[in-house]
Amino acid sequence: MRKTTFEHLQDGTDLQQQTYGDWPIWQRTIPFPSNLLMGSSGTHLLETYLVVGSAWWQVLSHDLKPGAAVLDIGCGCAKIARFLALDPRVVQYVGFDPIPQSIEWSNAFVVPRAFGRFRFEHVDLYSAEYNPQGTIQPTAFRFPGDDASYDILIAASLFTHLLEADARHYLAEAARVMKPEGRFVLSIHDEPPEGERYVGGEARVDIALDYFLSMARDSGLDLADDLGSLCGQHALVFQRLS
Ligand SMILES: C[S@@+](CC[C@H](N)C(=O)[O-])C[C@H]1O[C@@H](n2cnc3c(N)ncnc32)[C@H](O)[C@@H]1O
Repeated sequence: MRKTTFEHLQDGTDLQQQTYGDWPIWQRTIPFPSNLLMGSSGTHLLETYLVVGSAWWQVLSHDLKPGAAVLDIGCGCAKIARFLALDPRVVQYVGFDPIPQSIEWSNAFVVPRAFGRFRFEHVDLYSAEYNPQGTIQPTAFRFPGDDASYDILIAASLFTHLLEADARHYLAEAARVMKPEGRFVLSIHDEPPEGERYVGGEARVDIALDYFLSMARDSGLDLADDLGSLCGQHALVFQRLS
């Protein structure tokens, strides 16, 4: 029977010390998470972890302006944040995720390399796949941030794991915390069976593109750019509806 990501993580010992392939941890560098922890963010392979993180950073670079405040929704174990930490345009970064080991790792190894600009928060959000003992329903969660407080929002491979009610709430929260000129860069799987529009569970969700765009519009978000394929998913950039 398929194991959930949560069950895989229960096999891990000492997730905070181990680094990929037992590589050493060098001073003034960000190490690599263990294979198990990387796996919880979509890949056990260091090469893929680095290629995907770098690709997302380059995509985000297009919209990043000096002084940017960034919210990374479902930040995992800092696959993208490790690149943003070295980007001087980012003056404030907040990432949150329901996997406590990912947040502990990011706080231990990324925060000290980010010169006081980065913060990772554990939020005990319920997810059948990632956090089945979670006490907070995603539909009840208010994103960390005032109205209109972020320039860039990121949801890399997050809507691929959200049930429809949760996705609708997250789109509305994103619209709330996004500055008027802000951008929300996200990815979806968009291959539901013919005639279906929102299919799957927290292990994998597929959404018909037109339906997702209509959900975003319902929340006050408009498509700014369709980036097509990115790392096996469909990447989209949203702005606030004018
Ligand atoms: C495929 S991983 C992607 C992680 C990260 N964005 C990246 O690109 O490496 C999906 C992440 O979403 C997180 N997640 C699942 N449900 C969530 C929710 N309701 N709110 C925020 N994060 C969630 C999981 O814990 C997991 O870290």
